[in-house]
Parts: sequence; C-alpha cells; structure tokens
Amino acid sequence: VTSELFDQLNRATEEAKRGLADAATLDQLAELERVFSGKQGAFNEISRAVGGLDVEGKKAVGAALNAARSDLKELVAARRATLEVAERAAKLESERLDLSEIVGTPNDGHLHLVTQTRYELEDVFLGMGFTVAEGPEVEDDWHNFEALNFPPGHPARSSWDTFFVELGNEEQVLLRTHTSPVQIRVMESQKPPIYVVAPGQVYRRETPDARHLAVFNQIEGLVIDKGISFSDLAGCIDTFTQAYFGPGIHARLRPAFFPFTEPSAEFEVVCFFCKGDGCRTCSKTGWIELGGCGMVDPNVLTAVGIDPEEYSGFAFGFGIERCVQLRHDIDDMRVMLDNDIRLLTQF
Ligand code: PHE
Repeated sequence: VTSELFDQLNRATEEAKRGLADAATLDQLAELERVFSGKQGAFNEISRAVGGLDVEGKKAVGAALNAARSDLKELVAARRATLEVAERAAKLESERLDLSEIVGTPNDGHLHLVTQTRYELEDVFLGMGFTVAEGPEVEDDWHNFEALNFPPGHPARSSWDTFFVELGNEEQVLLRTHTSPVQIRVMESQKPPIYVVAPGQVYRRETPDARHLAVFNQIEGLVIDKGISFSDLAGCIDTFTQAYFGPGIHARLRPAFFPFTEPSAEFEVVCFFCKGDGCRTCSKTGWIELGGCGMVDPNVLTAVGIDPEEYSGFAFGFGIERCVQLRHDIDDMRVMLDNDIRLLTQF
C-alpha cells in the first residue's frame, strides 16, 4: 500500500506540474489550484489514505506528501508572478493611448490656405529668378503715394480710401493701401538689376463683399534692368498664370491707369467658373481681374535716383485671396476670414 501511495503521489505531482506549465492565464492557474488542493483533489485523497497506514508508513508518505505540497506551492507562486507580469503588460498594451494618432489630424494645426497660397506664389516666382522682399504695413505718405507719382491732391489717391494712423503730421502715416510702396523701398536700398516680389497684407476702407475684403494680401513684383520691355512683362504674367493656375489658363492685359506705371494694364485670367462663356461671378465678361501692372513710370525711377534713360522695368501687383478664390472655386471671399473649421480642415 505504501509504495502504491508513493506512485500515486508521484503521478499527482507530475500531473500538477504539467498543468502548471500549461496554465496560460491567472484564471486557469486558480482553477488548477482548486483541483489539486481541493477536497476532491488527488493530494487530499492521498492524505486520507495515509491515515490508514502504520506509523512508519505515515511518517514516510506523510513527509513526501508535505514536501510535494510545499514544492507545488512555490511553483504556483512563481507561475502566478510570471502570469501577472504578462497580463499587466497585455493590459497596458491594449489600453495604451497612441498619442501619435493625433499628429496629422486637423487638430494638429496648419497654415491657413491664404498663407499656403502666399508661399506657393513665392515659390513660383523664386523659380523664375525673383527674390522675396518685405516692407512695413504702417507706411508713410512718401512710400505709399508720393514717390509712386501720386502728388498731394492727385485724384487717383481718392480711389484708395485710406486708414490713417495718428502719428506725426496729419494724414502722413497710414496703413498701406497696396504693396507698391515696397517697390520704392527696394529701389531706395538696392541698385539695379532688381528682380523682387513682395507679398504682404494691405488695408482699404472698403465694404467686404463676395470679391473684396478691407484687409487682404497682395503680391507685388518689380523688375528693373537694362532693356526691359512690355513684352517681358506680358511673358512674365503669362508664365506665372500657367505655373500657378495650370496649363491652358491664360492671362490677358487690358489698358488701365495707375500713376506709377506707364503704360498700365489690368491683368485678367479666364473665368474659372464659366471657362470664358460669361457668368455671374465674372459679370458676364468671361474674365476675372487679378491685378494691375505696367512699365515703371520714369517719374518713379527719378524719385528713387535711378536714371530712366539707362534703366527700365515693369511692376505688377495682385490679390492673393483672389487667386485662392479662383483656384479653389470659393464663391464668397469672406469665408477666408470666418475661421470656420469646415473650411480650415479642407485645406
Ligand atoms: N498697386 C496696384 C493696386 O493695388 C497694383 C499695381 C501694382 C499696378 C504694380 C501696377 C503696378 O491695385
């Protein structure tokens, strides 16, 4: 009987060890423990049988049983520790917040469409050999008007109703009405040849509507070199138009007047909405005005000390929001100031 109990004990121990190795979760481990140490378990059965043995047998089998039980206890504890670590790791993994998911979603923030367009326009002109210049948004009368051949009291001044700043003499300091004063600043500080573009914000006392804002962006261009002619201007405008709007979108020039260019032109591109047929957006003309341009007036060159007999050049200036509106088919320009997330997230 004694040796039979030893066999039984060995088998029960082997089985329990195998079960331990197979237990893959803490729940399975607890279940296994209940089985081998519970009332109906193999060890309890042996323990009961020991009661019927003689003193020698009780001692021998009893000692082996206790040793096996405490062995198993240690094995269970070790297995439990391993499984706990594994389960905690799995739980952490499954509950982990992947913060990197937020990168690249609209919540991350990005440049406004108008700024993106400004950079894109700069790139187009950089590719054509221009450099980028900047000037102040608060200007003086000299740079915004007088050096650009608008003498005091000139009627053309009144076509740009202005915000004056209370600084210095009355009506001498103002929010610039166009980026053309940067032409003057560049020519005052740089010798020809000059090939610059100057993007930036401008201000006009204007009631906003679908195609006008009181605060908007322009990009100015200025070229001063020897032997520059009107065909250089026309070629430059058309090259830009096709580079930005795509092949097949042409510009046309229409006679216009600006005090600082002579001859002057308005440049227009084919209406994107009706492709030239004439619609409400283009006032049935098939064309949309983007900006003004012309050959730099000799009076302007003289005002900044450049000899008009030696140098000639052209200038242009157009609205960046207009470009955005055309290319992205936006019927009301005011949405660019609304801060509406539905617009912002699209671009
Ligand atoms: N400054 C003019 C405007 O704001 C545009 C222009 C720029 C015209 C350069 C001619 C030359 O309308």
